Amino acid sequence: MAGSLPLSKDFRPFDVTNPSTYEFNRPFESDIFTMIYFLSEVFVHKDAVTRFLKTCFARMKKGALLIVIDFKHADVQSWIDTCAKQGGLEGSGKEEELVMDTSEQKSILKRYSDKFNIEPKIRSQVFYRLFRKT
Ligand SMILES: C[S@@+](CC[C@H](N)C(=O)[O-])C[C@H]1O[C@@H](n2cnc3c(N)ncnc32)[C@H](O)[C@@H]1O
Repeated sequence: MAGSLPLSKDFRPFDVTNPSTYEFNRPFESDIFTMIYFLSEVFVHKDAVTRFLKTCFARMKKGALLIVIDFKHADVQSWIDTCAKQGGLEGSGKEEELVMDTSEQKSILKRYSDKFNIEPKIRSQVFYRLFRKT
């Protein structure tokens, strides 16, 4: 239907380092997967998360999309590119500087910016990927 996008609001908490927590079906039937500032967070558990990525990519349906946005880092980029290729996903991407909207509400962080005498980062080097399961 033009102009509308039906979304499911079904939440499933799970731990990507623990396969027994992601033994479900429905989330893998999704049309769109996003990994936003996620891979850099879990890179320290690379072997365990690689098992999750293999499961996820094997179970994604044909045509499903994966959107990745994360801090630019050669090891993280080659990790997801390799896993995606091995998992039957094809896609493209780019790297660029991201400038956050300066109107972002930061006042609740004031006690920390005062304590550490720093402003929250508003510029970062990021990479993007858009993959499609073939
Ligand atoms: C930096 S946050 C990004 C959150 C969100 N995508 C965003 O852009 O605001 C990293 C996310 O990784 C998730 N995460 C970290 N370790 C995880 C794990 N072992 N299993 C599943 N998720 C994990 C955290 O719950 C958190 O939501």
